[in-house]
This record gives sequence, structure tokens and C-alpha cells, in this order.
Amino acid sequence: MQAFKSTLVALGVMAAFASSQALAQVSVRVDTAKPGAVINKNVYGQFAEHLGTGIYEGLWVGPDSRIPNTRGWRNDVVGALKALHVPLVRWPGGCFADEYHWKDGIGPRNKRPVSVNTNWGGVPETNAVGTHEFFDLAEMLGADAYVNGNLGTGTPQEMAEWVEYMTSTGQSTLAQLRARNGHPQPFKVAYFAIGNEAWGCGGNMKPEYYTSLYNHYTTFLKAPKERMPKLIASGGTGDDTAWTDVLSRDAGRVTDGISFHYYTLPTGEWDKKGAAVGFPESEWFSTVQRTLRMEDFIRKNVAVLDKNDPKKKIGFYVDEWGTWYDVEQGTNPGFLFQRNTLRDAVVAALNFNIFHAHAERVRMTNIAQMVNVLQAMIITDKNRMLLTPTYYAYQMYIPFQDATSLPVTLANNTTYGANGQGVPGISASAARAKDGKVYVALVNTNPREATDVTLDVAGQAAGTVRGQVLTADAMDAHNTFQNPQAIKPAPFSASASGGKLTVKVPAKAVMVLAVEG
Ligand code: AHR
Repeated sequence: MQAFKSTLVALGVMAAFASSQALAQVSVRVDTAKPGAVINKNVYGQFAEHLGTGIYEGLWVGPDSRIPNTRGWRNDVVGALKALHVPLVRWPGGCFADEYHWKDGIGPRNKRPVSVNTNWGGVPETNAVGTHEFFDLAEMLGADAYVNGNLGTGTPQEMAEWVEYMTSTGQSTLAQLRARNGHPQPFKVAYFAIGNEAWGCGGNMKPEYYTSLYNHYTTFLKAPKERMPKLIASGGTGDDTAWTDVLSRDAGRVTDGISFHYYTLPTGEWDKKGAAVGFPESEWFSTVQRTLRMEDFIRKNVAVLDKNDPKKKIGFYVDEWGTWYDVEQGTNPGFLFQRNTLRDAVVAALNFNIFHAHAERVRMTNIAQMVNVLQAMIITDKNRMLLTPTYYAYQMYIPFQDATSLPVTLANNTTYGANGQGVPGISASAARAKDGKVYVALVNTNPREATDVTLDVAGQAAGTVRGQVLTADAMDAHNTFQNPQAIKPAPFSASASGGKLTVKVPAKAVMVLAVEG
């Protein structure tokens, strides 16, 4: 912090992180007469990779464990995820997917080969969790399955056979093998991706080369019509729209969606990303600023899609996103374990609001990752489990799943940050949920100052709003096994007075409110 202060003084910038407007009153107007696109529930999708304790220990303990479990999946974690209404889970990677050979993960568990997880810590991969176990988890959660195929080290035949194994019926040899392995009925593979990060760990390819491979591999992916998964092409990252451009021009015919990955690093530097806890305010600010780049990335890629796919058949799937900090000291660096604070909840909510604004194309996202890895919902330690602030952000936003987005106009918004470098103080989003109510989400990015927001729905002051607020005194407030309830949502309500409804949004807070009358 000291170094950062000195820099500011050197620049002559005083009160760098103060709000630009003291005693601000931001106005948020929700236009119910102009409903937008439906916010696909899969925008709240999850990602579970064979990485660190993300699956083994975090979710899977095996049927013989003393930790209470159902067919090997731990009951506490599954119960908490069910309460989160997880709509979709992506598996088995990530980078892991491009070295995963599905036949290693079927049949009696004690006969499965042990391989090495070369991407993540070089640890043994027992293959105890394979295709059948994954679908068992998805079924318990009531979630759709998103299976990521191996393009990098697999073959078209291996990929085609996996799809056949999961989806075929009747006399097919692979359908019979699946039945012998305990599942006579085909699995429902909602989505299937052809490789992952082809520009990096998936093979260091160029978009044109990957697109040819995509067309080659997908030619052989066959399933009964009603069980044919939606196919996902592995797209780009960051500022580069070339992947979206080439894929939407040359692979569009069989592509349901093009994926996109973007991680928020406080410093933007992979060598020194920034700490998960105990960080200075400069890194609160830079994290917010960097995560808001998602808006620009989506906008640019959607513009490319609008040009190449005017009928809007192709979705833009942000199937990896979230915070990525320096790994927790004393843990295996390959396990990507980091703590999760109020800052992560704010990052999640800011991204949700961006995704809602682009609901027409952004029909799926998958935060990285579900348990114990990067920006996780849940952290476990042997038989204990805790819920993170990110979990609570997801829980508060449940009403937005399959809700109809509504246009929101902000006037007189505050600015948080240093001169010329500010970010919007308030981020807002609104939708009409399946229960018929209008929900409004408000995020205050300023960690020091509360902001008054006047809320006007359909040209009138809302009568009463009721919901929850997530905030804390410290920017890095987080739950621990000693104090697992340190930060959790609190009830909130406000009523109109004198024809005006004012909501005081606390500093560094996430709010989701239902409008009642
Ligand atoms: O989520 C961790 C890793 O980040 C994934 O395996 C990879 O796709 C990305 O680089």
C-alpha cells in the first residue's frame, strides 16, 4: 500500500479512490414495457475440472469414505450445490480435457488405469471419476451435462466413440458396453465441446487450423437425432476476436456456440497476479477495473457474430471466467487453490450484470471453478465445508435464471477510482423472473462510500423492495473453518416515501431486491 501511495503522491493525485461525487444520488430506471432477451439459466453454469481437490476430495470421496456420501459424491457439497440451483456443469476440463482418454474412466473402478495429471501438479489421476460418475453427479444436482472432448491428444475416432458410448441405444457395441457398466439408458449430453483453449494448452493452434480440425472431428460425431448434443467450438480469449470471426464464418453450420475465456488478475501479470486476501485498495480497484473489461470483450465478439451470423444461431459461451490470484502459500501450486472474499462476490455480480445485458448471445457461462479451485463456490477441508462469498452471489441471483431481462438506465452515476481511470460506482441489472416479479441487482464498487440509489420501475417509484445484501467491513472479508459465517447475505427492505424510493447501497456491496408494488 505504501508504494502505491507514494506513486499517487508523485503523480500529484490526491484522494485517488474517493468517489467523484460526495452525497451522490444515482437514479436507476427499469423499463418494464420493453422486455429484452431471456437470461438463459446456463449463464449460471459451473465448471469442475480434474484439477487439485476440485473433484477428488472436494466433491468425490468414494463410496467407502467415512465422509457421508452418495455413491461416492459427498452429501454436504452436493446439498449446498443443489441449493444453488446449478443449471449446468462442464467436465472434465479445461486443459485436462485435451489429455483425457475416456476409456480410462469406465468399468470397475479398481481396474481403471492410473495416469498422471500433467497439467495440474503432476499428481496421480486414478480415473475413479469417469463418465458414469459424472452423469450421476449431474443427475443428483438436476444439472445439464456439458462434456468437453479431447482434440489435443485424441483422435476423431476416440471422440466419436465417446459420443456414441454416451448417446447410442440398441445393438451398438458401445451401447452394450455402457449397459454392462451399469447404465442401459443413454446419457443426456446437453453440450459437447471439441477441445479447449486450442490457442494454448489445447495445442497452440491458429484459428484457421483449429477450425479445419473442428470441421473434421465434428463430421464423425453422431448420435440419435433427439440425443445429439449441442456442439461447442473452442474460441478465443481477451481482446482477440479472430477466433470468433474464423469459426463463425467457417464452422458456423454445426456450431451451437463459440467459447471464450477471460480471467481477472488484479495486476494483469501472470507472474505476480496479486493476493487473494490482505490486498491493498489499489488491487480492489484494479480487479474491478479488469473484470469490467468483460463488457468490451463481449461487445466486440458479438459485433463479429452479428456480422457473420445475423440470424443469431451461434451463442457466445464464456465457459471459463473468474478471478485468478497468487496460489495460497503452502499449497501445491498446480492445485490453484485460493481464498475467496467479498471482492470475489463483487466480481461475480459485476459479471452477471454484464452477461444479462448481452443475454441474447451470452447463453452460457461457466465460472472457474465449482469447488476448491480458483473462484470457487465451496471450499472443503477433509470432512468440513464452507460457503464462499461467491456462493452467496450466485444464490442471491437465482431469480435471474431464465428471467426476462429488462432495460436499465442509470443517471448521475458515481465514479470510483483515480482520475481518468474511474469505474462506474453503481452497476445495475433488472429482469422479470419466472415468479412474475421484477428483480433489481445493484452493485456498489466503491469500498469506502455508500451510495443512495433512487429506484423507478416503469415510470413510478417502486412501493417496497425486499431482498438481500452482501457486504462486510473489510474488502477481503471471507469465511474460514473457524468462522464459517463471517460473511453471508443479510435481509434488506426499503419503502417509498413521498413518491420516491431510495435504496442506500452500502460500500462494497451486492444487492438483489424484488420489487413489491
Ligand atoms: O481453470 C483453470 C485452467 O484455466 C483451465 O484448465 C484452462 O482451460 C485455463 O487456462
